[in-house]
Amino acid sequence: MSVAIEICAPLAVLGHDVQVPLASGAKVGYAALDYAASSPALQRVWDDVAAYVPYYGSVHRGAGYLSQLSTDLFEQSRRTVAEFLGLREGDQVVFTRATTDSLNLLAGAVPAGTRVFAFETEHHASLLPWAHAGLSVTYLRAPRSHAEAVAALDAALAEAPEGPKLLCVTGASNVTGELWPVAELTATAHRHGARVVLDAAQLAPHHRVSVAELDVDWIAFSGHKIYAPFGAGVLAGRADWLDAAEPYLAGGGATRTVARETDGSVAVAWHTGPARHEAGSPNVIGAYAIASACRALSEAGFDALETREQALIARLKAGLAEIPQVKVLSLFGADAARVGVLSFVVQGWNSSHFSAALSAEYGIGVRDGLFCAHPLVRTLLSDDAPAVVSTCGAPEPSLPGERSLNAIRVSFGAGTPDEHIDRFLTAVRELVTDGAAWNYRNEGGRCVVDTRREG
Ligand SMILES: Cc1ncc(COP(=O)(O)O)c(C=O)c1O
Repeated sequence: MSVAIEICAPLAVLGHDVQVPLASGAKVGYAALDYAASSPALQRVWDDVAAYVPYYGSVHRGAGYLSQLSTDLFEQSRRTVAEFLGLREGDQVVFTRATTDSLNLLAGAVPAGTRVFAFETEHHASLLPWAHAGLSVTYLRAPRSHAEAVAALDAALAEAPEGPKLLCVTGASNVTGELWPVAELTATAHRHGARVVLDAAQLAPHHRVSVAELDVDWIAFSGHKIYAPFGAGVLAGRADWLDAAEPYLAGGGATRTVARETDGSVAVAWHTGPARHEAGSPNVIGAYAIASACRALSEAGFDALETREQALIARLKAGLAEIPQVKVLSLFGADAARVGVLSFVVQGWNSSHFSAALSAEYGIGVRDGLFCAHPLVRTLLSDDAPAVVSTCGAPEPSLPGERSLNAIRVSFGAGTPDEHIDRFLTAVRELVTDGAAWNYRNEGGRCVVDTRREG
């Protein structure tokens, strides 16, 4: 199936010609507006991967030509990522499965007794690994400005006992898209002797990130959010804690030597460097795909990408502002700097119902729910969100008439054409004004269209 679609986006992504069925039976080009969950693959990434696959071979294991070629490609990908992230001399790039994996790796690698600081606004991937790894965590309340965030961290660190400390902070919120004052928080943390890991899952696809300039100690991001959905992610930064830690996984590739001792035990000497935490056969295609995306984004230029994305954000915000029933969620205020991620609620609508209608009646893919950031979304919804009686989908209110606690998120990036934002705004306007054209029912907690009869 090939459909000619005019794409006016800075980077070509796959999926623009995918036709999806509407409840009416008609088909329409899919409007992917859920980049924050997983962005579409860049055409360039797909082409690079396709060109490599015939040459695929084992990494760090084989004597054959293709094994050597694959090993070179894997290590070159590490260097490309290091350059993309603006790493310092001596910093490491560890390939992981994704951001969640990267942060869990780090949580298991910090020195015993490390106290971790995290705002309660974090995505669960950056909120939860620390306590899960047995570390003590100080959760900081949701700040309502950058200055409040810096002051809260300063105060908490000033009271912290001696010992290793780590701040985990997100660069851009996966709920509001708002940017966090990473450089200021890092300077504050360092002044108190704390290290910093930056969750760049939502930042890296949208912004140039320089570890050296931000001065963070580690950074984590996911391939599938940066147009390279081949199962890899990155943890990059300082080597010392990583080299001193137990390997993340025990197995081949992480070991220098393994010897059977005379007493029957097995003595292991582990590698230092990235290999220490990359046991098992590495995901060379995933790593190469990330490197390809890094090259494509760098060549397109973040200045150009951001200019266009900010224009789309302005268009979206202006359109939503004209619909009084829509309330955009924000921690730092309407004018806060943000990436192309925006969550909102609609007066009188359950968010799951609204999202299902966007899909079934307009071919638009957004996300609804609490976005793996339950404390943040609950805080934002408790502000002054409209009281919505749930009519469809999860989570159902426990009492009749109770507020339905979920929101709708629209997110986009370098592959998004103007038409997707325009279609989205038209759809929101029509749904708010005319209501849904179809009936919807709750199926296993999800709101789904009921095509058996028209509403
Ligand atoms: C800010 C943020 N951090 C971490 C993650 C976890 O990323 P992954 O699911 O790729 O591990 C996400 C995913 O949505 C995110 O938005």
